[in-house]
Amino acid sequence: MHALDIIIKKRNGGTLSPEEIEYFIGGYVKGEIEEYQMSALLMAIYFNGMTDVETYNLTKTMLYSGDTINLDAIKGVKVDKHSTGGVGDKTTLVLGPILASLGIKFAKMSGRGLGHTGGTLDKLESIPGFNVNLDMDTFIDQVNDINISVIGQTSSLVPADKKLYSLRDVTGTVESIPLIASSIMSKKLAVSTDVISLDVKVGSGAFMKNLDTARKLAKLMVSIGKQFGRTVSATLTNMDEPLGCAIGNSLEVIEAINTLNGKGPKDFTELCLAFAGEILVGAKLAKTDEEGQKMALDAINSGRALSKLKELVRAQGGDVSYIDDPSKFALGKNVIEVKAETNGYVTHMDALGLGVASSHLGAGREKITDDVDHSTGIVVKKKVGDKISKGDTLAVIYSNFSDNESVIGEVKNSFVIGDEKVDSTLIYDLIR
Ligand code: URA
Repeated sequence: MHALDIIIKKRNGGTLSPEEIEYFIGGYVKGEIEEYQMSALLMAIYFNGMTDVETYNLTKTMLYSGDTINLDAIKGVKVDKHSTGGVGDKTTLVLGPILASLGIKFAKMSGRGLGHTGGTLDKLESIPGFNVNLDMDTFIDQVNDINISVIGQTSSLVPADKKLYSLRDVTGTVESIPLIASSIMSKKLAVSTDVISLDVKVGSGAFMKNLDTARKLAKLMVSIGKQFGRTVSATLTNMDEPLGCAIGNSLEVIEAINTLNGKGPKDFTELCLAFAGEILVGAKLAKTDEEGQKMALDAINSGRALSKLKELVRAQGGDVSYIDDPSKFALGKNVIEVKAETNGYVTHMDALGLGVASSHLGAGREKITDDVDHSTGIVVKKKVGDKISKGDTLAVIYSNFSDNESVIGEVKNSFVIGDEKVDSTLIYDLIR
C-alpha cells in the first residue's frame, strides 16, 4: 500500500477500505507518514466527504490508536455527556450532581477550555483546592462511593485524535462532518461508559452554524455509537446566544450552584432537565423523558443534587464552604456595566463574540499552555427576546485589567437590538 495512492483515491472521490484507513492513520501516528501527506488526505476528505462506513472505520482506527479505559469495576449504569463546545456551557456542573443523586454513575473525563469555549476542568478549578488529577483507581473508587467524579483526560487516550486535531486546526479542515464525528466518537468510545449523551450545539457560538449539518453530524455520531453497542443520543441545542447568563470560570460555577438551588436561568435549567430526562431514559431509570425530567427537578427541589455537588467537591479536595456561600468566590476587581444605547428588543446575540471577549479578559486561553484567570468574565443581563430600554444594563464585565475599552466594545457589539420581538428556541431536536 502507498500513501500517495490512498490520497489520490480520496481526491478522486473514491471510498477507502478499512485496511487503507488503518494503514494511513496508523502510519501517521507512528510518524511513518508525513504531515504533508496527512494534510492532503484531510483536505481530500474535507472536499469529498466519507461514506458512513468509512467514518465508522476511521473512528475505530482512531479509537484503538492508544489506550482505552475499562470502567467495568464501576457497578451500575455509567454515563458520559459531551458537548461539542459552546459559550457559558456549565451543564456538567449541574447535570452530573443531578444524575449522581439519582443513582447514575457519572464518570466524566473533561477537557480544558480553548479559544472561545470554556472547559469544565477550568471551571472546577475555580473552587479552591479542587483536584482534577486523580489516578484511575481513585477515580473508579470515588465513582463507586459517591456516584460521581470529574477528572482530566489522560494523554494516552486516542493519540491519533491529538495529532490529527492539531493538524486540522492549521490546515482548514476542522469543519468536516466525518472528521468531527470520528474525533468526538473515538474519544467517547475509548472509555467504556454505557450511556453517551451528546449535546450538538448549533449557531453563531458553535462549530455547526446551521441546523441541517448539525443534524447530519448528530445522526452519524449516534449511529457510530450504536454500532459499538452503546446507548447514544444527541440533542441539537441553540448556541446563537450563551447558555444561561454567566461566561467565565468562577461566574459559571456560581450560576451552577444557583441552578442547583433552584434559582438558575430559565434556559440553562431547562437544558439540564432535558438532558437529565433523556439520560435517565437511556439508563432505563425512567420510562419517558418527562418522567426523567420530573425526577431531576425533584433532585434539585429536595436539595439532593446540591448535596451531591458538595460531596464531589469534598471528595476531590475542594473547599465546600464556597458552595455554601458563593459570595466567597473572588471576582474581577473592575466591574463594568455595559448599557443599552437604544430602546427595542434583543433580536440576536453573538455568542462567539461574547466568548472571545471573555477570553480576552483572561477567562479563556489561546494556547493550551496558557493560564486562565478564574475570576474574570461576563454576565449577560438580557437575552434574545428581552425588551430593552435605553440605559438598561445589557451585561456586566468582571475584569482585572485597568483598560477595558476594547472588551466593552466587543460586548456591546455582541448584542443586536431591533424593533420586533423574536423568539428563541433552546432545543431543536433529539436523536436516538
Ligand atoms: N470537538 C472534537 O473533539 N473534535 C472535533 O473535531 C470538533 C469538536
